[in-house]
Amino acid sequence: MAIKNITVLGSGIMGHGIAQVSAMAGYKVNLRDIDQKFLNKAMQKIKWSLEKLTEKSKITKMDAEKYINNITPTVDLKTATKEADLIIEAVPEDFNLKKKVYGELEGLSSENTIFASNTSTLPISELSSLTSRPQKFIGIHFFNPPQLMKLVEVIPGIGTDEIVTKELTAFVKSLNKQPVICKKDVSGFIVNRIFIPLVHEALYSLDRDHVSMEIIDSAVKYKLDFPMGIFELADYTGLDVIYKASFEMNLRDKNVLRMHPSVKVLFDKNELGQKTGKGFYTYQGENYERINLTPEKASQYDISSILGVAANNASWLLENEVCTKADLDTALKLGMGMKTEIFELVSKNGTEKLVRHLLELEKCEGDFYKPNDYLRSIV
Ligand code: CAA
Repeated sequence: MAIKNITVLGSGIMGHGIAQVSAMAGYKVNLRDIDQKFLNKAMQKIKWSLEKLTEKSKITKMDAEKYINNITPTVDLKTATKEADLIIEAVPEDFNLKKKVYGELEGLSSENTIFASNTSTLPISELSSLTSRPQKFIGIHFFNPPQLMKLVEVIPGIGTDEIVTKELTAFVKSLNKQPVICKKDVSGFIVNRIFIPLVHEALYSLDRDHVSMEIIDSAVKYKLDFPMGIFELADYTGLDVIYKASFEMNLRDKNVLRMHPSVKVLFDKNELGQKTGKGFYTYQGENYERINLTPEKASQYDISSILGVAANNASWLLENEVCTKADLDTALKLGMGMKTEIFELVSKNGTEKLVRHLLELEKCEGDFYKPNDYLRSIV
C-alpha cells in the first residue's frame, strides 16, 4: 500500500516534529489536536525550526514554504483522519488517554489505514488490543527533536503483520531516518530503557555525592560523551514526559528503574523543564537554551554509578535479545547522540571496577544495582 496521507494526533514536542519531518519528505499531513491554541503553538515551532534550517542552508526559503503548505492543522478528528493512510498517535504518555483516543478513532478511517503509536514506553501489543486492528498496529518511536535526531525505533506488537513492519520501515527510511527494529515489545524499548533510568540515577547520585547538577551533567557530557547533561536532557525532553514514561515503565517492570521522588515533585509543581521556564534548571524563556557545562567541572566527578546503571540496562537488552549489539550502538548514537559505544565506555572506565561499584551499591541500596550476568561475563 502506498502511504501518501499522514495524520499526526497530538501537536506537542514530538507530534509537531513528526508532522514537520513527514511534510519535509513530501507527505500531506493533517496535524490534529484538541485545541486551536496548541496547534498555533505547534505551527510557530515548525516555522522556527524551518527558519533555522533555512539559515543553515539545509533547505531553501521556497522549500520551507512548500513544507508548511503540506501541513493542515485541525481540531476536527473526523476530517483529520478520513483520508489517512497512516495515523501516527503522539498524545501524552498516559495509558487511559491513549485508550480514549483509540476509542474515538474506531470507524473513522478505512480498514487499510495503519495505526502507529509514538509511545515512548507502552508495550505495543497492549495498545493494539485497544483497537480492532492489531495486525495493522505498530510502534514508531521518534526522538526529540525529531527534526534533528536520525533514529526511529520500529516496534512490531504480537499481532502486527510482517508486511506492516516492512511498510513502516520503508516509510521511516523515506523520511531520511534510520530505523532500528526493537525485536521484543519490552517496556521502554531500546533507548528509553537506558535514558529514563539515568534521570533517576542522576538524582540518587546528587543525594549520595552532594555535588551540583552542573558537575554531574558536565561529567555525563565530557566523560560519557553525551551531547547534553542528563538533567539538561530531562529538562529538554520535559519532566511531564519523563514522569509519565517512568510511571508506565515502573508499573510494568519493577527492575528497569529506581524511582526518585523528585521527578514527581517537579511534575506536580508544573516545573516541566525548558517549556515552562523551570525544571531542574531555570531558563530565560521557552526557546532552545543550553546549560554551561565544562571539562573542568567534569573532572570533579566519578561517573561510575550513572555508567553502571546504563551498562546494566544495556546488558539486559542484549541478554534478552531485544536488539543486536550493532543495533544498540546505532540506537544510542542516533537516538541520544552518544559519541562512544556504551561497552567501549565500560571498558575505558574498567569493567571490573564498574562491577565492583555496582556490587557495593547493591549491598548498600538494594537489588536494583545487582550487576547483570552479561556485564559480569565480560569482566
Ligand atoms: N529544528 C532545527 N534546528 C534546531 C532544532 C530544531 N527542532 N533544535 C535545535 N536546533 C538548532 C539549535 O538552535 C542550534 O542552532 P544554532 O547553531 O543556530 O545555535 C543547532 O540546532 C545546534 O544546537 P547546539 O549548538 O545546541 O548543538 P548540538 O550539537 O548539541 O545539537 C542536539 C543539539 C541535536 C539537540 C544535541 O544536543 C542532542 O543530540 N541532544 C540529545 C538529544 C536526545 O538525547 N534526544 C533524545 C531524548 S529521549 C526521547 O526523545 C525519547 C522519549 O521518548 C522521551
